[in-house]
Amino acid sequence: MSSMAGKQVVLGVTGGIAAYKSAELLRLLVRDGAHVQVVLTRAAAQFVGPRTYQALSGRRVAMETDAVSVEPGGMDHIALAHWADVVLVAPATADFMARLAHGLAGDLLSSLCLALEKPLALAPAMNRAMWEHPATRANLALLRERGAAVFGPEDGAQACGDQGPGRMLEVAELRRCLESLFHTGVLRSVPVLVSAGPTREALDPVRYLGNYSSGRMGYAVAGAALEAGAQVTLISGPVSLETPAGARCVSVRSAAEMRDAVLAVAPVHRIFFSVAAVSDYRCDTPAPRKIRKEEHEVLQLRLIRNPDILAEVSGIPEAPFTVGFAAETEGLLEHARAKLLAKGLDLIVANPVGGAEYGFGRRHGDLTLLWEGGSLVLGRDRKELMARRLVREVARRYLERETADAAPAH
Ligand code: C5P
Repeated sequence: MSSMAGKQVVLGVTGGIAAYKSAELLRLLVRDGAHVQVVLTRAAAQFVGPRTYQALSGRRVAMETDAVSVEPGGMDHIALAHWADVVLVAPATADFMARLAHGLAGDLLSSLCLALEKPLALAPAMNRAMWEHPATRANLALLRERGAAVFGPEDGAQACGDQGPGRMLEVAELRRCLESLFHTGVLRSVPVLVSAGPTREALDPVRYLGNYSSGRMGYAVAGAALEAGAQVTLISGPVSLETPAGARCVSVRSAAEMRDAVLAVAPVHRIFFSVAAVSDYRCDTPAPRKIRKEEHEVLQLRLIRNPDILAEVSGIPEAPFTVGFAAETEGLLEHARAKLLAKGLDLIVANPVGGAEYGFGRRHGDLTLLWEGGSLVLGRDRKELMARRLVREVARRYLERETADAAPAH
């Protein structure tokens, strides 16, 4: 799975001949699993029309007709700025960058960039002399200083016949640059273990006890840890999700299998995110053959407790930094805090489940982080975004502890 999978990207296209490459870039991003909303300036539409982008993105293209207005039913500049995980303007003309540098917001794309609180990337494309002009240099320096990422341009033959810097980067390179924006590096080379998904406890050869966990949160945590530069091992119960690119994945079925897989590798990992919804019980003796309903008017199952994998990990010598999840339908914070203490964890993430919007099987998560001395509300959002916030917070605390442990005693 590409690290662009699930990302919400606004692809802004301004009026330059390189716009023909943006259609191909869009195709690559969509193939990576990104959700891409194209925003065209009026000049851009003179080069490649909205239908091309609409067909490739499967979304109505946002185009300004006047000031910041959008097509009926589309998102306005504020909604788009909130929706986007990143905005990439490719190609970005000299004129567009000049307007952006001065905070002008006379059209949809520039106004959404002004309202944006997420990463902004620009892929300039223009004639060599325009690129080298002091006005363009100054505008670019200002945009860089304010945090914009600038991808390219490269040197080469130009559409106008000139030779020199100003060509938009090739699309494969732009896609790589875009991916790298999400790579924070805070956990560079740290071995991180993540358990995810449900477990299945066999009742007979064809039936099992399970739960509604989709694995989405655990996979998002693994993805966010990869973005942070970690070496990720993902131990996953049965889910229908793609393994995040770069993770080592071990597939398991039952809690016992998950326990064996986790304990075998936990000592060589420095952080353990225990996101899996491990079944608390298993069937005492699964039937060796299919249970026949003709034989039982009432079927009684004897269930026995499964070992607590997370508590076992936190108990091993030199245990990794342990992060548990408390999925609760009521008494969220009290239950979560009790588990933090009972299992001897460094952190626990409290998340309400069982509602219509958040939790098991849903796309959104509502997370609060708790530790012995306090708590932090991480908020509610798509699981991918929540996972990034969580990994950032966990990385900060883990690194603080490592630094404190490494400091010489006085
Ligand atoms: O006790 P409870 O199941 O609510 O605890 C949830 C946390 O403990 C999760 O992090 C889950 O992955 C972990 N857990 C475990 N082994 C179990 C049950 C839960 O590791 N048998």
